[in-house]
Formats: sequence, structure tokens, C-alpha cells
Amino acid sequence: MILIKLGGSVITNKKRPLSARRKAINVLAKNLRKIKEPIILVHGGGSYGHYWSARYDMHTKEKRYDMRGVAIVKNSMIQLDKIVLDALLHNKLNPYSVPPTDFMSGNRPIAAKVKEMAAIAKAGLIPVTYGDALWFGQKKTYILSGDKIMTHLAKILTPKLCIFALNEDGLYSDFESKELIYKIDNRRPTIPENAADVTGGMRRKVQEATSIARAGTSVFFVNGNKPERILEAVKNKTFEGTLFRGKRNV
Ligand code: IPE
Repeated sequence: MILIKLGGSVITNKKRPLSARRKAINVLAKNLRKIKEPIILVHGGGSYGHYWSARYDMHTKEKRYDMRGVAIVKNSMIQLDKIVLDALLHNKLNPYSVPPTDFMSGNRPIAAKVKEMAAIAKAGLIPVTYGDALWFGQKKTYILSGDKIMTHLAKILTPKLCIFALNEDGLYSDFESKELIYKIDNRRPTIPENAADVTGGMRRKVQEATSIARAGTSVFFVNGNKPERILEAVKNKTFEGTLFRGKRNV
């Protein structure tokens, strides 16, 4: 079992609201077809969900956000999900759409439902889920990121590995020279102080990747615009990207 997160900045153009990068999605789908083991896909919000959650000032903290914003973020994520699902179908894959409301209750994953996703994947379908605006309780809602979903799924399913397809080659130790960090050892999980891009969106990804690696599963950060790198990571070949080594996969 392999978990793959398609980053919002790979599948959408983050500079333009509500614009999907259909060609990139199509190329990804073509390459995913070459993976011969069960996979679960998670995708981000990019210029769909992120655009609207920023407009309505909605964040990952559970709060009483504008319900109009909740409705619009959810709707936009279904729109983006549909584009991803269509591309998968078109490339002869068999996606099985699983909105996060299916396996989340409040801010907790429902283990039985997550395990059901694994059974679905093993049966030859590809469960596809995504970051979204979710109900928490007492009129509070929150943004559940696709990155957080990866952690929830990885902790319950202990997959062979987790792959984050990014719009970058991996994690850079220095943003100017774009020097890649190739390996982050779980026994030495602190990221170098000078790691220039461990801010904002990337910081959250690093936090989730570290948490997954500590729970035992290795995590790869690869450039989703070069999907052959995803295949190399799956085959455990040398590849271009950053590896967070999990203790089960040393
Ligand atoms: C986005 O999920 C969730 C919403 C804003 C609705 P992510 O936070 O995982 O999205 P990307 O990959 O960073 O765009």
C-alpha cells in the first residue's frame, strides 16, 4: 500500500483562482497507471479550496467561521476533485471518490472507515480523497489539509511508503542555490536550522512528514511535475527528492 498526496500547487495554478492544471493532472494519471500496487490518493486544494478559505479567513484551527465560506470551500473542492477523478477515469484507472466526511468525525479519523479504504484499494479501486472544510461541532468548522489526511491515514494503515508530489524538487537547505536535502534521518529528525523553505506551507508538510516517519513509514518529497520520480520512489530506486526515513524502512 502506498499513499500519494498530489499537492495543490501541482494540480492547480496557484497564481490564478480556480484554475486546474489539467495537463499536469493528466500526465500524473498516466504515470500512476504504471504503479502495480494498491494506492490511495489524496489531493490538495490549490487555487480552489485555498483560494476560498483565504477569502473567508478560514484556517486549520476549529472556530466559528462564516458558514457561507464553509459551503463555498466544500463546493470548490468537489469541483477540483471531479477534474482529478475525470482525468483518472480517462486514463483507465478506477478512482473511488471518498470525501473526507466519510472517514472523519470532528477532527478524528474513524479507523474502521480508513481500513475500509485500504480494502477498497486492495480490491483494485483507487480511493481518492482531498483536503476540505469540515464540521467540528458546536457550530465550529476547520480546514483539514491533505497533508494532515496523509498523517491520519499513514498512522492507521502503516503503508509501505508515503509520497508527497510537490511543485519543487524536494526540501532545499538553501533557497538561493536550491541545494536539495536528500535525506532526513528519523533518528535525527530535526531539520537544519538554515533550511530556507521550511516556512508556511512547506513547514506544515515537514511537520506531517516527520510525524509519519516517526510512526514508522518513510516519506518521499518529489517533484510532481516530473512524475517519473514518483515511479522511481515507488521502486525504491535512487531518485531526486527528499526522503524522511521511517524506522520501519531503514
Ligand atoms: C487544502 O488542502 C484544503 C483546503 C484549503 C480546502 P492542502 O492544504 O493539502 O492543499 P495544498 O496541497 O497545500 O494546496
